[in-house]
Amino acid sequence: MVNAGGTGGLNWHVHAARSLHRWLPTRELIAAFLAGVHTSEKHLLLIGCSAGWMLPTPWLARFTRIDIYDIDPLVPLLFGLRHGRALKAQGVQLHYHRQDAIAGLPAVLNAHPEACLWFDNVLGQVSFRLGDEDVAERQLSQLKHLLAKRSWGSLHDVYSGPIDADMALPAYDSLSWTRMDELPEESAKVRIQADVLSHEDAAQQLLGRLNAKGVWHDHATRTVFGPGTTTTMLPWAFKPHYWHWLQAAWVRP
Ligand SMILES: C[S@@+](CC[C@H](N)C(=O)[O-])C[C@H]1O[C@@H](n2cnc3c(N)ncnc32)[C@H](O)[C@@H]1O
Repeated sequence: MVNAGGTGGLNWHVHAARSLHRWLPTRELIAAFLAGVHTSEKHLLLIGCSAGWMLPTPWLARFTRIDIYDIDPLVPLLFGLRHGRALKAQGVQLHYHRQDAIAGLPAVLNAHPEACLWFDNVLGQVSFRLGDEDVAERQLSQLKHLLAKRSWGSLHDVYSGPIDADMALPAYDSLSWTRMDELPEESAKVRIQADVLSHEDAAQQLLGRLNAKGVWHDHATRTVFGPGTTTTMLPWAFKPHYWHWLQAAWVRP
């Protein structure tokens, strides 16, 4: 209950509740991204959403049924407090499941053959839970194949680390980022905005925009989306001087 396997739980809720004001610019970027996601499916599987601290209620209200999967036992209470009343007033049915929906994804998909999915800032934590970046990257790169016949999207961490506290705070500009090929990281190319760069140069550009300082963590999510998928990179002041780059995209079958 305290840390829900190291990626959520009471610690997360206290930090999120205290950080809501600082997170507002990123929450607005997420809301703007999701406002552009229109699905024909009316049933959503929401994976790892915690209390939905960063989710906009109006986007959730586009669905008639939402199945919420999280390993954290506090989620039904806190998601209910944050979004439940408004969603129920608009006729949205909520169903809570306390289970590992990443390891159990095939069964979750079988149980809901018509639903679309949103992974809500959970895939970037897989490398922490597994304790091995290479294994995590291999597992995460398989997800898109399991989901090939679904409409689905994800918001997840890509990089995180300290920023230079002596410089002005970075701007909240989102960026377009498209992986160009299936090559290993050292030879891969990325289109970042209008420029095609090596993966390493593109990553350096991201870190430079946030005045990164010291050691940054790679969340092993580089291959969650396939080559050619246009994604949006969003800056997030997770702590005042510890920022993340989040990546979001929606994929159709
Ligand atoms: C960083 S938090 C998500 C934050 C959420 N987007 C929000 O706005 O509050 C990650 C969440 O994923 C959940 N989680 C981690 N691994 C999971 C898994 N394998 N299946 C389901 N939920 C998981 C954690 O319990 C936690 O609530």
